[in-house]
Amino acid sequence: MHKLGPLLAMALSLTTMILGGLSYAVNKSFHNAPESAKQLKNPYEDTSEGVKAGQPLYHLRCARCHGDNGEGSGNIPPLRRHLSSVTAGELFWFITKGSPKNEMPSWAGLPKEQRWKIVSYVKALSLGRTARQSTPDAGSKGITKLSLPRAKPPFIDFRDEEPGKTRRITVADLPQPYATRSSDNGPRLVARPTGVWPKAPAGFKVELYAAGLDNPRLIRRAPNGDLFLAETDPGRIRVFRGLTSDGKPEQSQIFASGLFHPYGIAFYPPGPNPQWLYVGNENAVVRFAYKNGDMKASGKPEPVVDLPVGGHSTRALQFTPDGKKMFVTVGSGSNVDDPDTTPGEKNRADILELNPDGSGMRVYASGIRNAGGGLGINPKTGELWCSVNERDGLGDNLVPDYITHVQEGGFYGWPWWYMGAHQDPRHRGKHPELKDKAIVPDVLLQPHSASLGITFYDGKQFPAEYQGDIFGAAHGSWNKSVRAGYEVIRVPLHQTGHASGEYQDFLTGFVLDNGDVWGRPAGVAVASDGSLLVTDDGSNSIWRVSYEGR
Ligand code: HEC
Repeated sequence: MHKLGPLLAMALSLTTMILGGLSYAVNKSFHNAPESAKQLKNPYEDTSEGVKAGQPLYHLRCARCHGDNGEGSGNIPPLRRHLSSVTAGELFWFITKGSPKNEMPSWAGLPKEQRWKIVSYVKALSLGRTARQSTPDAGSKGITKLSLPRAKPPFIDFRDEEPGKTRRITVADLPQPYATRSSDNGPRLVARPTGVWPKAPAGFKVELYAAGLDNPRLIRRAPNGDLFLAETDPGRIRVFRGLTSDGKPEQSQIFASGLFHPYGIAFYPPGPNPQWLYVGNENAVVRFAYKNGDMKASGKPEPVVDLPVGGHSTRALQFTPDGKKMFVTVGSGSNVDDPDTTPGEKNRADILELNPDGSGMRVYASGIRNAGGGLGINPKTGELWCSVNERDGLGDNLVPDYITHVQEGGFYGWPWWYMGAHQDPRHRGKHPELKDKAIVPDVLLQPHSASLGITFYDGKQFPAEYQGDIFGAAHGSWNKSVRAGYEVIRVPLHQTGHASGEYQDFLTGFVLDNGDVWGRPAGVAVASDGSLLVTDDGSNSIWRVSYEGR
């Protein structure tokens, strides 16, 4: 033991580990970090506060590549044991500069404190000190979670989801903060097993419309019926056209590439003959010259307005029906940091309103943690609606995500209040004057279910009672002990244009009985034949739901 120890250490320090075809340096030669980097001190080091604060940041920025538990995949290294002897300073140095030629982004744009918090979390990962989700060989863990008792309705998890079933969550149902522990339970993605298929209510048929995509997220129908898809990670906008007899697109083409995390898509001016296609990149709204029938951009994107980078990164876009104004979402940079003391949170967690040329920016509605998932105009009332991811860290059944119409000048609570006059315990005593200003949203959804894209059903194919209803994609939870979301929901508006607080499970079955996840609904659009398209960035495909009758 005594003799082997130093020898082993030396061998390790000189070794370059080879994993999955990619080599990465271990220990002393950690990416040739300079001596000065080693000396940097983490202000949060070894505090549970730093690890806790770093967890949601890690999930926002790093998990999509390095995995929810730092397990890595393909060419992306794990963030595990082999990093345990790398100093916090070296990690900070590396994360800050990145390794752009190997596709590890530079995170210099993130505020310093956020980088340090992430370092605390990565250190905890490397030391095995984070709450773990189920891993391939630790089936017992998954089973332990699945043996947890069901939540008390109206709160549910994936085991309870049932197409067509109506749910209703009210503020009277909310538990106290910390009634349950805050979970770190990101999805373990597996391939869709043969024979497993999404489930829709009776009378609906589900087909695979497109597969082999890369991170398909928001999808929008162009006035001529073409379907525009944001493939966010690879930075592309793709177009689909037509429908073959077996329910596939006749054509698929890249409209534009080389974009920075594109997400929002909007045609301008509204109406049958748009001249521009607007795209919400993470760092800016840009626009392409566009006319009906274009399947490839004719030129470079023109900048419209710059946006802050970091934190919640999806920028949804929506024009008013008269085309005079454009709405852009900018979600918070953090889970729940106070904008009063965190400069990076100034002018975030808002829906912004601008002129279509990018001028005249103002805050249209505030206290909205992240409406980046989806915006839409209710065709019946002309109101703006949004889908919002609420905050984490307060336990399994707080805080509900929501879908709501947006009041001009409205304040929706973040970060000091939630669901009306409920104070966030992390901001006790702050902003009492806002208590009665915080609006209770129209439809409360399962907490942590990660509500993303929404669309209003304007097709003719589904039964008449679906006219004008909202479909919403729930991408699925990580901050909940048993998964929730991972489904498409319907919000009935009862032909009135107004919600009653109810929603229904519509398309389910993306989580297997053992808790593994094979699909994650992200975006929804109504195709011109009235079928519903659902993007799924878990299986990298698009599902098509059509109505056949009973
Ligand atoms: C777009 C994918 C991507 C994202 C997002 C990403 N990384 Fe990486 N990361 C990589 C790749 C690829 C490498 C390997 C780079 C190299 O070896 O030069 C890497 C390397 C690393 C390493 C070095 C690991 C080792 O064993 O040498 C650390 C530490 C790291 N990333 C941390 C992070 C953190 C923290 C975040 C979030 C703030 C993050 N990464 C986000 C792709 C990513």
